[in-house]
Amino acid sequence: MELIKTSNELNQRLSAARGKGKSIGFVPTMGALHQGHLSLVEEAGRGCDLVVVSVFVNPTQFNDPKDLDRYPRDLDADMEMLAKSPCELVFAPSVEEVYPKPDTRVFDFGQLEEVMEGKHRPGHFNGVAQVVSRLFDMVKPDKAFFGQKDFQQMAIVRDMVQQLNLGTDIVACPIVRESDGLAMSSRNRLLTKKHRKSAPLIAKTLSESCNFVQSKKVADAKTFVENVINSDDNLELEYFEIVDGQTLQPVDNWAESNYIVGCIAVFAGEIRLIDNVIYKIA
Ligand code: PAJ
Repeated sequence: MELIKTSNELNQRLSAARGKGKSIGFVPTMGALHQGHLSLVEEAGRGCDLVVVSVFVNPTQFNDPKDLDRYPRDLDADMEMLAKSPCELVFAPSVEEVYPKPDTRVFDFGQLEEVMEGKHRPGHFNGVAQVVSRLFDMVKPDKAFFGQKDFQQMAIVRDMVQQLNLGTDIVACPIVRESDGLAMSSRNRLLTKKHRKSAPLIAKTLSESCNFVQSKKVADAKTFVENVINSDDNLELEYFEIVDGQTLQPVDNWAESNYIVGCIAVFAGEIRLIDNVIYKIA
C-alpha cells in the first residue's frame, strides 16, 4: 500500500494500472476510519482490480465551522487500518491540491436537496458534489463505493454522475453498526459518555418502527419515532422523514411507493448523528 499526496503522482500510478487493463475501485472518505469505511473497501476489493481510498476532510461541505474544527483527523491510524485491507493506494491530498482555486460551481439537485440533510445543512451537498466530482476527475474510477448510512448523499452523487455524464458505477453498501445498533460514524468518538449511552436508542427506535408498516399509518410511525426520541433527555430530534427511496419526497401512505425509507437526524449533545431504515424495497 502506498500513500499519495498529489494528483500528478496519482495519475502516474493509475495510468500504469489502466494500461495493464486493471479496473479501478474508489472509496472516498474523510478519514477517522472505522469498520463502516472498511466494509466499503472490502466490497471495492471484491469488485475491482485496484482500490483507491481517499482521505480528505473537505472544507466546502461543512456548513458549521465548529464541526469542521473538531472533525477527527488521524492519518497514521487510518493507514494502519487500511494496511490490512485490499486498498492499494491511499490518496490524502492537501486542500490546495484539491482546490488550487476556490470552487465556485453551483450544482442544482432540485427536490433531492430540498429535504432532510439538504434543508438542515445549507450548502452541504453542493460541497459534497464539488469534492466528489473533483476526486472522480482525478481517480476516474470504474466503480465508486458509498455507504447507505448517508442515504441522501448517495442519491445526490448518483444524480451528479448523471448530470456530468461521468460513467462511474455507484455501488451502495449497507450500514455497519456497533454491537448495540448505533450506526458507525467518525463522529461517534466525540460523544460524551451519557450521550453515547443514549445514542443506540436511535437505531432501536427505527427498527421498532418497522412494525408499523403492516398495520398502522405512516403518520403513526412518524409520531412513534418522534415521541420515543424526544422522551430521552440526552437526544434532540432534528428531523425524521419517511420518504420515497428514489425521489426522497415524503410519502403519506405505505402503498404510495415500493421503495420507502425512514431518515433521521438527532443531536446527542453537540454531536449530530444520522441514521435510516428501509421499510420497503421492491
Ligand atoms: P465519510 O463520512 O468519511 O464517509 C465515507 C463513506 O463511508 C461514505 O460513503 C459513508 O456513507 C460511508 N460510511 C460511513 N459510515 C458508515 C457505516 N456505518 N456503514 C457503512 N458505510 C458508512 O461521506 C463522506 O465521508 C464525505 O461526504 C465524502 C463522500 C467522502 C465527500 O467528502
